[in-house]
Amino acid sequence: MAKSIKTIGILTSGGDAPGMNAAIRAVARKALSNGVKVKGIKRGYQGLLNEEIVDMEARSVSDIIQRGGTILGTARCMEFKTEEGQQKGADICHKHGIDGLVVIGGDGSYMGARALSRHGINTVGIPGTIDLDIACTDYTIGFDTAVNTAMQAIDKVRDTSSSHERCSIIEVMGRNAGYIALWCGVANGAEDILLPEKYDYNEQNIINNIISNRKRGKTHHLIINAEGIGHSTSMARRIEAATGVETRATILGYMQRGGSPTCKDRYYASIMGCLASDILCEGKTNRVIGYRGGKFIDFDIEEALAMQKDIPEYEYRISKLLAI
Ligand code: ADP
Ligand code: F6P
Repeated sequence: MAKSIKTIGILTSGGDAPGMNAAIRAVARKALSNGVKVKGIKRGYQGLLNEEIVDMEARSVSDIIQRGGTILGTARCMEFKTEEGQQKGADICHKHGIDGLVVIGGDGSYMGARALSRHGINTVGIPGTIDLDIACTDYTIGFDTAVNTAMQAIDKVRDTSSSHERCSIIEVMGRNAGYIALWCGVANGAEDILLPEKYDYNEQNIINNIISNRKRGKTHHLIINAEGIGHSTSMARRIEAATGVETRATILGYMQRGGSPTCKDRYYASIMGCLASDILCEGKTNRVIGYRGGKFIDFDIEEALAMQKDIPEYEYRISKLLAI
C-alpha cells in the first residue's frame, strides 16, 4: 500500500534558476492545502546534512513568486555523492519527520533524490535549470528568463559592434549543452552559432565566413559561442589576426542566471510545483516532473536519467540558413 505522507520537505540544488521561488511556493501551498506539513531545507543537500531545516506556512512563501534566485539557497555537496552522506541525509529526514521530499534542480540533483528514495524517503524531482539539458522534459524552469536576459544583452552588444564594424563573440551559459546558444543565436540573428553538440572546431570556416560577409557588405559579425566550447577571448585574438577585423569577446556569465522570472517560468514552476506535491501525497516515489507534448507528466527517475536529448536537427539547420 502507498505510504501516506505527513510532512513534505523542499530543497533547491545545483545552480539556481529564475522561477525556483515560484516552484517552492507552489509545492508548499499545494501540500498545505492537501493537509500535509511543509519544511524547507536550506542550501540543498549540504543544508540537509547540516540539519538546516525550517517549518513553512503559507505566509513563508509570500512575496516570492516574482523574485529570482531561491529563498532556500542552493549548494553543490560532494558528501552527498557518498553512501554515508546519503544514509545520513535519510536519517535526518526521518528524525525531522520528513517522509516526502521535493528536489528542485537538474540531473545531478535527481541522482541525490534517487539515492534518498532507496533509503526510504519518497522523492519527486522538478526540473530547475537554465540549461534546458534535462532529457525527459521539453521545458526546464529558468530557461525562458535566461534566454530573454541573454537576448537583451546581446542586442546591446550588437549595437556597439555594428557602430564599430567589429566582430563580436558572445559566450553564453549552458554547461555542456547548446540550447541557450541556439535560441539566442536564432533570436539575435547571429552569423555563427557554436554549439558543443555540433561544433567541429574548424575555426577556418568562421574566418572564411567573416571575410565573405565583409565582402557582401555586412558591418558586423555576431558569433554566439556556448560555454561548453568556451575560450572566447583567445578565439577573438586568433580571428582578429586571421581576418584583420577587430574582434571582441564578451562573456555574459552569471547575469543570465538572475533576475525576475518571466511569466512562462512562473507558470510552469507553479504547475510543476503543484503536481510534485500531489504526486508525493498520492504516495508515489522516485519520480520526476516533465512537460512533453503539451502535457505536464511524471516519469520514473531511473527512466528519466537514462533518456538522451540532442539539438533538433531541423532547428540547427535553420539557425545556419537564417544567418546568410
Ligand atoms: P544539477 O542538479 O543542476 O545537475 P549538480 O550536477 O551540480 O547540479 O548536482 C547538484 C548536487 O546534487 C550535487 O552537488 C550533489 O550534492 C548532488 N548529486 C549530484 N550527483 C549525485 C550522485 N551521483 N549521487 C548523489 N547526489 C548527487
Ligand atoms: O547549470 C546552470 C549553470 O549556470 C551552467 O550554465 C553553468 O555551467 C554552471 O551552472 C555554473 O555553475 P557555478 O555556479 O558552479 O559556477
